[in-house]
Amino acid sequence: MPGTCVIGLQWGDEAKGKLVDLLTSRFEVVVRYQGGANAGHTVVVGDKTYKLHHVPSGILTRGVVNVVTPGVVINPPTILREIDSLMAQGVEVGSNLMLSDRAHVVFPWHIAEDKVMDQATGGENIGTTLRGIGPCYRDKVGRAHAIRLGDMLRPDFAQRVEHIVAAKNKLLIGIGSQAEALDAVAIVDEYSSYARRLKPYVAETTHFLLDAVETGKNLLFEGAQGSLLDIDHGTFPYVTSSNASGVGVSGGSGVPGRWIGKVIGVAKGYTTRVGGGPFPTELDDAVGQRIRDLGREYGTTTGRPRRCGWFDAVAVRYAARLSGIDCISLMMMDVLSQLDEIRICTAYEIDGQRTDRFPSHCDDLRRVKPVYETFAGWQTDVTGVRVYGDLPEAARRYIDRVSELVGKPVEIVSVGPDRAQTMFTGSMAV
Ligand code: IMP
Repeated sequence: MPGTCVIGLQWGDEAKGKLVDLLTSRFEVVVRYQGGANAGHTVVVGDKTYKLHHVPSGILTRGVVNVVTPGVVINPPTILREIDSLMAQGVEVGSNLMLSDRAHVVFPWHIAEDKVMDQATGGENIGTTLRGIGPCYRDKVGRAHAIRLGDMLRPDFAQRVEHIVAAKNKLLIGIGSQAEALDAVAIVDEYSSYARRLKPYVAETTHFLLDAVETGKNLLFEGAQGSLLDIDHGTFPYVTSSNASGVGVSGGSGVPGRWIGKVIGVAKGYTTRVGGGPFPTELDDAVGQRIRDLGREYGTTTGRPRRCGWFDAVAVRYAARLSGIDCISLMMMDVLSQLDEIRICTAYEIDGQRTDRFPSHCDDLRRVKPVYETFAGWQTDVTGVRVYGDLPEAARRYIDRVSELVGKPVEIVSVGPDRAQTMFTGSMAV
């Protein structure tokens, strides 16, 4: 079966970029299919650190074609900076990068709207990355004010921008977010120059991918964000605006589910969340701060400190089922090594009733009381461990319990940011 997917099982930042980078040598094509510059994938190779936002992590492996499909929203200046920075670090970026002409484009009005709309929930802020992602997806669904990458190369581009800017100025000035009107001429000038630079990468990607699967090529689908941030199935409204769980793969890429053979769910040995929304196992104390410091839990895109807490097996099991995973990749196990005691949330209690079901409404999720199982820490540095059997017994017990509670085997364990600090077992063994 040609397609393998890597999907986050929590609220994003599960270190998917590292895993995709490690797996790419087994694949011919790597596909990014949802999200945009809100994502931040950090990949460490030797003494070099690469920070990627739109470009698939496969770009770091020679001979791999990297495809950004219609489900992604592209911010032209950001992706150009990304390409420039990769090239400056000696990475080849040319015919190995394809950007769908159907992908929608983030414009300055989307970023302006993101700033005002984030407060519009009437309660806690969503705490978006302020990258204009939600407003761009909103315009895509609304259609009248949307511009796709391919549209930027057409003769009526300037006219479309003028038409949209006229409407957006009324909206932005009307809601008091903008003192000065957006200047359509300046935006056309700036974005036309981006379009000229991006043109070599713009392509029709849907036929390319269908040809690839039909001719037996191996594809790796790289999810951004995490399943619990999925617009339809996550902790709405504290979610992102795309299908960040496994359900988004086909819609975003155009590759039917029949071509997907394997789904790898990625989770950290603990939980993090950025932005607002309920987080049952959050640790608002010294232990949470310890995890944040040890795991360097600060956002790749925004630099915001991430909220930290214990592993939530109720949430991960829900995400694992939703994304149809075959196995788990458990990340950041080195961080847990330094704690005296570690907990896993095995169930929720709500109104005195115990449940292992993840609630559909945020207000209910806010009310749950996590039921914990406590494990003794292993307090051994595991960053040098390269063989699964050499992990301390207490660490293996913890991993076994994660498998049991989520209902899928842990087949990849990561003990540090470097490529070498990863162990593959079971069906993922190399
Ligand atoms: P947006 O995607 O910028 O609209 O943000 C919506 C919510 O998703 C916010 O809580 C963000 O912090 C969160 N979010 C978006 N992208 C990521 C990511 O890559 N990692 C973790 N959280 C994210």
